[in-house]
Amino acid sequence: MNPLESCHDIGDLRAAARRRLPRAVFDFIDGGAEDEVTLRGNRSGFGRYDLVPEVLTDVADLAMTTTVMGQDIAYPLILAPTGMSRIFHRDGERAVAAAAAKAGIIYSLSSASSVSIEEIGALTQGPKWFQIYVWRDRSLVRDFIARARAADFQALCLTVDVQVLGNRQRDLHNGLTVPPRFTPRLVLDLAWHPRWWLGLLAGPPLEMANVVGKAPGADGDLRTMMRYVDSQFDRSVTWDDAAWMIREWGGPFAIKGILSAEDARRAIDIGVAGIIVSNHGGRQLDQAAAPIDVLPEIVDAVAGRADVILDGGVRRGTDVVKALALGAKACMVGRPYLYGLAAGGGAGVARALGVFRSEIERDLRLVGAAIDDLGPRHLRLKDVPRGYPFNR
Ligand SMILES: Cc1cc2nc3c(=O)[nH]c(=O)nc-3n(C[C@H](O)[C@H](O)[C@H](O)COP(=O)(O)O)c2cc1C
Repeated sequence: MNPLESCHDIGDLRAAARRRLPRAVFDFIDGGAEDEVTLRGNRSGFGRYDLVPEVLTDVADLAMTTTVMGQDIAYPLILAPTGMSRIFHRDGERAVAAAAAKAGIIYSLSSASSVSIEEIGALTQGPKWFQIYVWRDRSLVRDFIARARAADFQALCLTVDVQVLGNRQRDLHNGLTVPPRFTPRLVLDLAWHPRWWLGLLAGPPLEMANVVGKAPGADGDLRTMMRYVDSQFDRSVTWDDAAWMIREWGGPFAIKGILSAEDARRAIDIGVAGIIVSNHGGRQLDQAAAPIDVLPEIVDAVAGRADVILDGGVRRGTDVVKALALGAKACMVGRPYLYGLAAGGGAGVARALGVFRSEIERDLRLVGAAIDDLGPRHLRLKDVPRGYPFNR
């Protein structure tokens, strides 16, 4: 039996990915920063809300489609940018982009992808965003923008929560550093998973496909490339730089990594069309607030002037329903589709997307509301006194 057939939810795909990958590689997907308080909080935040269905509403024909930053999508899910996906499966970003296009949802390609902007652009006609950073070398940023435009990416997504790389301690313990620390444990771990490394060896060498050969110093092995990329992270970046980038791009633009109402207002002031409420899936600042917890105040501050997207901890259709009821336009997911990719390549990604689609559809019917009808009346905060805005 195809092992994917026994994967009925994202948890099953996670378990399948865990079996398939060396521990160090699985932990690289699964882990978060430091004590992983934020990683856990991203999930547990959803548990603070109960759903309150409305019954005897006509749910025979529920539209699943929605529009995010001017783009029509088949259901309210967006695939978050994740770097170097060929580490998890030889088909990497190609498989993810193709599955997203087939499903009719947006794929966000990471700047740090292992397949290039041009290749992904040529591969699918599906809705695509390109994730970008403000790099020290602004001519490189201009070049990225021009390449994304030429390859038909419809929106740009600026990630703002990587001032420095988060302290991911699972990777340190596992020796998954640059360069790797080949401890006996890591060597054994890799040796136990021949299917994984044979897949890796079958393809061209892993590289940061968007950067390789694009600038002096951006060449050579992965280690040299990573050092180059690290040197390009500009720690002096401000709102003025983000505003500059919006002008350079001239199209739909989102900022990813907003966690406060004040920053959401600043983003609106410089002209963003999308606000991605995110803590990078708990991989950057540990103890940062969970997106679902800060979503209501951000939706309030944005007041319909941009689309708000919730990113982090989404594993179930009910999570999406809760985020939408709090005013998000769509949810982004990272690890869920990577588990699928690791478990079964393109078919595994398709499985993850299918799970989300059917869960969202079923949950909307059970809640008794179409996407546009969802609202605070469908939620109840647990353990809070009556009188709180969501407890009516
Ligand atoms: C393996 C991995 C690589 C990631 N790489 C990037 C990246 O290159 N750029 C970026 O903006 N976010 C990156 N992220 C963060 C995701 O875009 C997203 O914010 C996060 O995965 C959301 O949380 P979730 O995994 O709980 O859905 C990465 C996440 C993972 C798990």
